[in-house]
Formats: sequence, C-alpha cells, structure tokens
Amino acid sequence: MKAQIGLEKKIIAAATIFVLTLSAVIALSVKLYSIDLPTCLTDVKPFTKGTLIQHGPNRYEVQYVAKMWKFEPADISVTPGSTVDIYLAAPDVTHGMQIAGTNVNLMAVPGVVNYARVHFTKPGDHLIVCNEYCGIAHHSMAGVIHVTADATPVTPPPTVDATADVRGMELLETHLCTACHSIDGSEGPGPTLKGLYGVRRELVDGSIVTADEAYLRESIVSPEAKIVKNFDDSMVPAEIPPDELEAIIESLKRLK
Ligand code: CUA
Repeated sequence: MKAQIGLEKKIIAAATIFVLTLSAVIALSVKLYSIDLPTCLTDVKPFTKGTLIQHGPNRYEVQYVAKMWKFEPADISVTPGSTVDIYLAAPDVTHGMQIAGTNVNLMAVPGVVNYARVHFTKPGDHLIVCNEYCGIAHHSMAGVIHVTADATPVTPPPTVDATADVRGMELLETHLCTACHSIDGSEGPGPTLKGLYGVRRELVDGSIVTADEAYLRESIVSPEAKIVKNFDDSMVPAEIPPDELEAIIESLKRLK
C-alpha cells in the first residue's frame, strides 16, 4: 500500500513538471519569436471590400475579404522587411486563412473581424489557402502574397469610398430628388433611378442614349437637355456642390 502511494506521488510530480515545462516553452517561444497571437475584433464593423493600404515604407494594412470561393485581394505585393497588419472578414460563411511560411492561421467568421500582424523579412511568395471547409469550391480558394523589392507603392484609394452609397442616397433625399424619382423602381413624376445606370433610354425625340456617367451628370445639372420618352420637361436644374454630385452619381451607378 505504501509503495503504491509513493508511485502515485511520483507520477503526479512528473505530470506537474511536464505541464510547467510545456507552459514555459510556449511563453518563451512567444517572446523569442515575437509571435503575435491572432485577435478577434468585435468592435470593428466588418468590411465588404478587399483593400491593400500602404501606410508608409514597409508598412501595410490589408483588409481581406474571404468569401465563396476567393480571397480579396487575391494577389498582393509587399516589400521585404515590411510589417503587414491583416484584417479578415467573411460576408458569407466561415472560412480559414493560412499564409504559408508564416504563423498566420486565422478564422474568418461572419460578423466579426479577425486580426493578425505579420513581418515579411525575405523575398519570396507566400501562398494563402482557406483551411476551413466552406463549400463545393473550397479547395480552389487561394491567394498569394509576393514579397519583392519590386512591389509598386500602393496609391491611396480614391476619395469616393464605400460610404458613397449611403451618402449618395442621403443626398438624393436632401436635394429632394426622391420626391419625384423613386429608388425602388416604382412610378413617379420622373423616371425611377433604380437600374438606371448603363441602360439605353429612349428620349421624347425618338433617339436612344445610354445612361452613362455623363448622361447622369447632365440630367441632374441640365435636365432639359434630354427628356425621357413619356415624361415632360418639368424638372428644375439641381444645384448640387461638385463633391455631392459625384457621391450621388457614384451611388446611382450601384443602384441596381
Ligand atoms: Cu473558404 Cu474553404
């Protein structure tokens, strides 16, 4: 009986030492190899557009969108020696993001943004794969990060951004456009704005024009220039500041 208790104590002691050693090794490697633990950010609104942003020499931020079945942006280039902040969002289902040759292995979960920081020291290509089964074409979901001295500097995104949609829609209300022009396709004193962009329009004189950007701009500023068939020349020219006009046109282009 005594011998048995002695053996049990030894086993417990050995197990404790094993666990402590393991914890110490993990803590040490986090410090030694400056491993950044992935973080789930619940206070950042998930984005829907993939973007590569350059904050300075060797400083990048990538907003990755993982969706069936691709990564956006799929193919980026950064300079050797750079630090890249990776933000990851998934609009549809849960995906995974593993960047080969780095310790980045993130989950892309709908509703939240996941974050990791990675340092690229040497030139080379890093394959990105989805490691979470996400449907029929899961296996084809891939991307690449090129680490190369030839990486072209990233120009900042144009001033018309993703919020243009919201702002443009608000402006349509502010300038009372929606009083006559519906945005849902319903009939009104003026033609609906829904699905307008890019389509061919028949005018009162029988001619056909395409509703491109120039047409939209002209029809807002000088509505009398082209009157759509079955409507009349009753719209007063809208006086809209240039930046607001651009935001409106940008949102009209996306109003499908
Ligand atoms: Cu995305 Cu598997």
